[in-house]
Amino acid sequence: MTTILTDNCCNCLKCEKICPVSGINIDSKTINDECIECHHCGAICKTKAIHNEYLLGHTTQNTIQPYEFEQLMQQRRSHRNFSNRKIAPEIIAEFIENLRFSPTASNQQSLQFTVVTNPDKLLLINKLTITTLSKAFGGINAFTKPLLKLFLGNNKLSKMEQAKQKFMNKKELNKQMICYNAPALILVHSETTPTGMPCHDANIWTGMAILYAELIDLCTCINGYIVNAAKRNKSLKNTVNIPDTHTIYSALLIGYPKNRFENKVDRPTPIINTIT
Ligand SMILES: Cc1cc2nc3c(=O)[nH]c(=O)nc-3n(C[C@H](O)[C@H](O)[C@H](O)COP(=O)(O)O)c2cc1C
Repeated sequence: MTTILTDNCCNCLKCEKICPVSGINIDSKTINDECIECHHCGAICKTKAIHNEYLLGHTTQNTIQPYEFEQLMQQRRSHRNFSNRKIAPEIIAEFIENLRFSPTASNQQSLQFTVVTNPDKLLLINKLTITTLSKAFGGINAFTKPLLKLFLGNNKLSKMEQAKQKFMNKKELNKQMICYNAPALILVHSETTPTGMPCHDANIWTGMAILYAELIDLCTCINGYIVNAAKRNKSLKNTVNIPDTHTIYSALLIGYPKNRFENKVDRPTPIINTIT
């Protein structure tokens, strides 16, 4: 809980002004129920007048140069070949702990993480995902097509058919097309709630995670297939003890790289519309 230490307060009002929910009243030295415990107040206070157990002392100056971040962004790739080396559970635990500063909507911090390293469970997730999505794609067939065309339109239907074809071809070629024999899978999930934005929280977390992983010589591949399959098939969650009341919002395969990407690739220049 955040409190204001009256004796330390110099009435500069910085905390009042920075509070995103107008939760602080320095006149009365009170914090109202709107407080989302983001601790901006404590982070900005020079006189240590804000007290809560999360304040860690002074921030250190960031020394990462912009070009270093740009290089990191360019070098990061999705890895679909992992070395046989296992990742120690402590390394994954520390990795997840260090990512806890990732922002969340209204500072809800509702994300939970299930780390799967059991090879049999990983094989099962691979299999369940393939069977679930094969069944789902099976719903696009000669009987349903006229109806789907009516509801979705030609363009969307043809995209769905392409996705189906791609999935079915891949399935034939690679029985490990989902988990790629990765030594670990991080499932990012949260209580399914009508408020908050856990889906966005999870995807932002994942964006941070894929970059951070590169810095500690790990490699990753985001997996949308698992997220999609888990929405359709409850047993996927059950197999790794994720409660039925939770939704899996992101799945991240993680391990040590088998390959190094030697060459840079470019991406199309973003379309930017600036409204001045
Ligand atoms: C939301 C999301 C879902 C993805 N799902 C999968 C997936 O299920 N399987 C896979 O192999 N790659 C998946 N990827 C990785 C993309 O295919 C990859 O990012 C893209 O091809 C660009 O390659 P790069 O990451 O190496 O730059 C996913 C990426 C994102 C952002």
